[in-house]
Amino acid sequence: MAAPIVNAEYMKEINKARRDLRSIISSKNCAPIMLRLAWHDAGTYDAQSKTGGPNGSIRNEEEYTHGANSGLKIALELCEGVKAKHPKITYADLYQLAGVVAVEVTGGPDISFQPGRKDSNVCPREGRLPDAKKDFQHLRDVFYRMGLSDKDIVALSGGHTLGRAHPERSGFDGPWTQEPLKFDNSYFFNLWWQDEDAFFRDYAESHKKLSELGFNPNASAAKACSDSTVLAQGAFGVAIAAAVVALSYFYEIRKKMK
Ligand code: HEM
Repeated sequence: MAAPIVNAEYMKEINKARRDLRSIISSKNCAPIMLRLAWHDAGTYDAQSKTGGPNGSIRNEEEYTHGANSGLKIALELCEGVKAKHPKITYADLYQLAGVVAVEVTGGPDISFQPGRKDSNVCPREGRLPDAKKDFQHLRDVFYRMGLSDKDIVALSGGHTLGRAHPERSGFDGPWTQEPLKFDNSYFFNLWWQDEDAFFRDYAESHKKLSELGFNPNASAAKACSDSTVLAQGAFGVAIAAAVVALSYFYEIRKKMK
């Protein structure tokens, strides 16, 4: 499908859809599942073959019935109401906008949003999203395949400040934090990211990268953004931190599984 023409009219629809999403997400308390939808559409990206990614393909039954996407039909249906009111907007933009609004509405950082993603009906094969029962190497393999880094793994794992696991969806159970509808750094507080401003900055940067995998409307703008590295940490420190967070993350959810 051709990329949408991002003109003033398209931007107007995006802004209206943003307002609708704010209202739905606040009234239905569905920020966590909207964020999970955005991530699962984007997280199938393969940087080598340039397939998958934030292209709306998750709306197809073939993909939303993948085991990893269990439960996401709820979020797809909520988005369908917004799409019906703003049909010009691509599903790909809509899902990523929903993710950005979910973070914003729950008190998280503002994430700059660039519209213009193309929709695709080509669904990736099952198995591209991380499997919570596998080890850290698997997590790395999946994120490196997307073209993301250890730092992105750590920052994005902080998305679990929202929501909970559901036994009927993933087999795991329970929230990760005490206030699962509040976007804050409580997921990391006892680890190392005690500075919430730093977490918010790094999260917003990694989330934007995730939401734009394979989508590059303006090469120079994208470069300017990625040059503004905010976390002053060496590669070694980041790798260790990622391992610690990932391990504690798996420890937490496994504990809840028992
Ligand atoms: C790092 C690898 C990841 C693994 C292994 C993982 C695994 C999981 C699992 C098992 C669940 C529970 C699903 C359920 O039972 O409903 C979950 C939920 C969730 N995940 Fe992740 N996830 C990962 C990365 C991410 C990322 C990158 C984000 C967003 C930036 C994210 C956001 C969420 C949210 C918001 C929920 C809660 C959904 C709800 O409450 O309905 N996850 N994740």
